[in-house]
Amino acid sequence: MKIAEAMAETAPITIADVKEAEKYNVRDFDIVGFGSGIYAGKFAKKIVNLIDKNLDDLKNVFIFSTSGTGKIKYNENLLSYLNANCKNVLGSFACKGLCKWFIFALVGGIAKGHPDMDDFDAAQTFIGQVIDKYNNTNI
Ligand SMILES: Cc1cc2nc3c(=O)[nH]c(=O)nc-3n(C[C@H](O)[C@H](O)[C@H](O)COP(=O)(O)O)c2cc1C
Repeated sequence: MKIAEAMAETAPITIADVKEAEKYNVRDFDIVGFGSGIYAGKFAKKIVNLIDKNLDDLKNVFIFSTSGTGKIKYNENLLSYLNANCKNVLGSFACKGLCKWFIFALVGGIAKGHPDMDDFDAAQTFIGQVIDKYNNTNI
């Protein structure tokens, strides 16, 4: 949510959490982004279900995740899925997010202090690139 809020500081974005998303029709938006924490290597099931529910109406999409390690590879499966379903995938972003879960805390309290200002800057650069790509592919 913090990453979405950082993006919304520099781009005209409507943010909805997974429950509020029910109120919106994805067809009313030029671009739809899906973000999630990573749980056991995957996007939250609720987010994946939301994507599935709207799959036919999605055209221009991007995804982003936060995780203890911040690895972008966590986005790969979902990216492949979206590409396989012929969506115009505009980008994929990942950064570290604080994990309070105790097992991850035990392995060094990874991602302490994240997302930080550098992560927010990177997210804002990313959303600029997403919009540029949208403008270039939807002439
Ligand atoms: C149950 C659980 C499983 C997690 N699994 C992973 C994981 O596989 N890899 C990783 O890097 N981080 C993992 N994390 C850390 C979260 O992805 C990270 O803290 C994320 O920023 C949480 O986002 P949220 O605050 O939006 O829920 C896990 C956290 C929890 C609570």
